[in-house]
Amino acid sequence: ASYHGTSSSGSVKHLVGLNEILKDRHVVIVEDIVDTGLTIKSLMASVLEHQPAEVRVATLLYKPDAYHEKIPIDHIALSVPNDFLVGYGLDYDGIGRNLNHIYKLVEE
Ligand code: IMP
Repeated sequence: ASYHGTSSSGSVKHLVGLNEILKDRHVVIVEDIVDTGLTIKSLMASVLEHQPAEVRVATLLYKPDAYHEKIPIDHIALSVPNDFLVGYGLDYDGIGRNLNHIYKLVEE
């Protein structure tokens, strides 16, 4: 978890640890959305501690204008503008996750 409301909190909270033995395994980190890259940087560091053979990153959505890390995002389904999105599993503080489509949040 790295988000509060619509902005990155600047730190990553690990909610679930790693249960698998990753040594010498080929690992794919699957993300819903890559924004600033803070989450992927933290996940990558945790996974690399286990000495896997290889780590790749796959994401449904990618915000190129917000991303400022050097870790390559190997598989991107869709690049999106730097908006806050909800639905299809994405939430705004727990709201909207169950919507069947992806919506841009408009604050009034
Ligand atoms: P990052 O650490 O800034 O790359 O943000 C990645 C994480 O923040 C994602 O896994 C989401 O949980 C959350 N996030 C980032 N952008 C959005 C968004 O537009 N909508 C919902 N969640 C987001």
